[in-house]
Amino acid sequence: MPSTVVTLENLESQQQLKIQPPQSGPSLHGRIRIPGDKSISHRALMLGALAEGVTTVEGLLLGADPRSTARCFSALGAEISELNSERVEVKGCGLGQLQEPDRVLDAGNSGTTMRLMLGILASHPDRLFTITGDSSLVKRPMDRVIRPLTEMGATIWGRRGGSLAPLAVRGRKLKPIHYHSPVASAQVKSCILLAGLMVEGSTTVTEPALSRDHSERMLRAFGAELSVDPDACRVTVTGPAQLKGQAVVVPGDISSAAFWLVAAAIVPGSDLTVENVGVNPTRTGILEAMAMMGADIELQNERIVAGEPVADLRVRHSQLRACEIGGDLIPRLIDEIPILAVAAAFAKGTTRIRDAEELRVKESDRIAVMATQLGKMGANISERPDGLEITGGSALKGAQVDSDTDHRIAMSLAIAALNATGTTTIHRAEAAAISYPDFVGTLRTICD
Ligand code: S3P
Repeated sequence: MPSTVVTLENLESQQQLKIQPPQSGPSLHGRIRIPGDKSISHRALMLGALAEGVTTVEGLLLGADPRSTARCFSALGAEISELNSERVEVKGCGLGQLQEPDRVLDAGNSGTTMRLMLGILASHPDRLFTITGDSSLVKRPMDRVIRPLTEMGATIWGRRGGSLAPLAVRGRKLKPIHYHSPVASAQVKSCILLAGLMVEGSTTVTEPALSRDHSERMLRAFGAELSVDPDACRVTVTGPAQLKGQAVVVPGDISSAAFWLVAAAIVPGSDLTVENVGVNPTRTGILEAMAMMGADIELQNERIVAGEPVADLRVRHSQLRACEIGGDLIPRLIDEIPILAVAAAFAKGTTRIRDAEELRVKESDRIAVMATQLGKMGANISERPDGLEITGGSALKGAQVDSDTDHRIAMSLAIAALNATGTTTIHRAEAAAISYPDFVGTLRTICD
């Protein structure tokens, strides 16, 4: 059977990914593993750096984002062994013991690194820290964490009235607050909880809907005193805490699995199993959305690994139907909306995604970029202020598309290309390495 032609061309620092499925269609088969969870990888390195003793991390994501976190925390004094996916060792400094670095901390493309680190740095008295990021990160709003940190007594300077990086932080002894966050954001919640570790008394965050709870799970495992009320979307940390190094096992990232789940669901004849996927209920919105669309996804071998639920996911092709996505489901699938838009382009009827204005301040404006790029392939997709409307059924055609340097856009367009006629060229495809360094390798494996 002819297979899909996948070529990757390097053009100076940029890559072009070309995908040409055979006329008979590709059909995807096999059992694959995906890289470690990005959110959990960041947190393992950060808590390891703050804890006393040694933390071991198995299954760390080797993408550019956790590498940024590792570089920052090495500069702050933690001893982090060479990064690999088997076993990384972090010798922590102990809470409150990070050093004042002699250089600017660079969070690269990673919002999680910058926002979570701000909470940690702001609560380290008598030290000055400077932080920056790449051309995408310096445009992303930091006031959402700077505002509550300032309420706790932090001193942070930045561009545009203190809301954009580069930032400077003068660490101080902070005071406890109860913060009612206007956005359901795990980065905001985690930033305040991390700042609260060093504060005497109870620091509480309430959010409008439940966001991912990896920080809460891991903080508890490291020994912090936490009380969680998921129904009220409220969490309290009582400090000062004492953190002890732990053995962390990072499950596969459901946000990376999502590309293959959608690929196998839309490509006729496919039968694919994605192994070792983290299925924490605060992250499984994608599975619920795809179930609403009539996807055939089976959870197998469900288990708990180091405090996080994990399963193998078997997905087979089926005809998808449109659905409505909004409300409390949004924070539980926020990173999967670009790939869900691809699924919707092959579903019967009109899918409406609303309440997702947060997408406008991700690594790119994911509403605008998906509408433009998927539109170039012939999808019937239109922008709404807070989401997208996609009418499925028009056959997609290969086109010249661009990632806008956003990893999830690059990979979503590659999956759309598998079910399009002709050749699609994805410009600036190197962005995929932020969260999925071997995306193209896995793509080749399942298309063979
Ligand atoms: C993340 C939280 C989410 C998510 C991001 C990772 C985290 O961001 O989009 O990719 O690890 O805490 P927000 O907190 O901005 O929603």
